Amino acid sequence: MSWFKQTKRSFVESVCINVLKCGPIPRHVAFIMDGNRRYARKSAVSTIDGHKQGFERMTQMLEWCLDLGVDEVTVYAFAIDNFKRSDEEVNNLMDFANELFHKLLQDKDNLNETGKAIRFFGDLTLLRPDIQQLVAEVELSTQNNTQKVLNIAISYSSRHEITNALQELQTCVQNDIIKESDITESLISQFLYSNHSSEPDLLIRTSGEVRLSDFLLWQTNYSVIAFANVLWPEFTIWDLFSAIIYYQRNCSFSETAKHKHQLRLKSIEDKQTQEEWMASDDIDLDLFIANKRERLTKCLQYLENKRLNQLKSLAKSTLITTKT
Ligand code: FPP
Ligand code: MG
Repeated sequence: MSWFKQTKRSFVESVCINVLKCGPIPRHVAFIMDGNRRYARKSAVSTIDGHKQGFERMTQMLEWCLDLGVDEVTVYAFAIDNFKRSDEEVNNLMDFANELFHKLLQDKDNLNETGKAIRFFGDLTLLRPDIQQLVAEVELSTQNNTQKVLNIAISYSSRHEITNALQELQTCVQNDIIKESDITESLISQFLYSNHSSEPDLLIRTSGEVRLSDFLLWQTNYSVIAFANVLWPEFTIWDLFSAIIYYQRNCSFSETAKHKHQLRLKSIEDKQTQEEWMASDDIDLDLFIANKRERLTKCLQYLENKRLNQLKSLAKSTLITTKT
């Protein structure tokens, strides 16, 4: 049950990878791994076995992404909405997650040698206490790695993430760390769980469903979205290649739109700063800008410390994590 395997690609697969690498390869790919239960029903196995097959397929997908040169992958492992499923399914999934995260912790030396960071997006406080502790330990022990990143969205909802970011910003205003007028689109982005990540270039959803299901709604504004009509445990390397070709045919439009948006955003934010300065009693514009930068730095530091302290306190909690 290893997370990062190293199997050899077949000759034909290697040729295809080399051909695809002649074109643009997405730096960050996000996956909505949907269809595990339908696969379980179709194959007459238990629901949890469907999820286990889904995990095996995820490890293969990670290998294919590494071979293609993708730097960052985000997977939707468990939505906040999934807590509404039967107690049996949720408990089985959490027991399985416990085993998986123990395995990740055992492999931490290897993760550090190969520069792989594992980050978690989600409201960790809603998770079972043993899982809270494990995810915190995994994230802390790989936090300095920069070569490859795997983000695991667990107990995640995009609307919850955006609401949480706005509440944190409100706290910063109430504590006089920033002014209300300092809140901009860029600052909101930096308050999301994904603050250390790039935005996905490509999002792939399996199972034939064509919705985003509250996944990375803010971050995928300029992503190419590919829908694959296969259940997640049946997703093959050819489905991934097909999504990459779809990305290569469509990415120039998204890249241009994203670039134009960034330029527009910069000019809007500069104009807003100018207007604030004109309306203020300050004489020196440079000083006004320097003060604003200082507030923003403090506010980002506040968030950084809060998240780090939360992880440290979860990791230290004296829980018995006997499931291995
Ligand atoms: C969606 O299929 C899948 C999930 C809700 C769970 C995904 C979990 C894994 C792939 C296992 C890996 C786990 C971790 C912790 C990394 P579904 O259950 O919605 O299936 P359906 O659409 O057929 O009902
Ligand atoms: Mg589903």
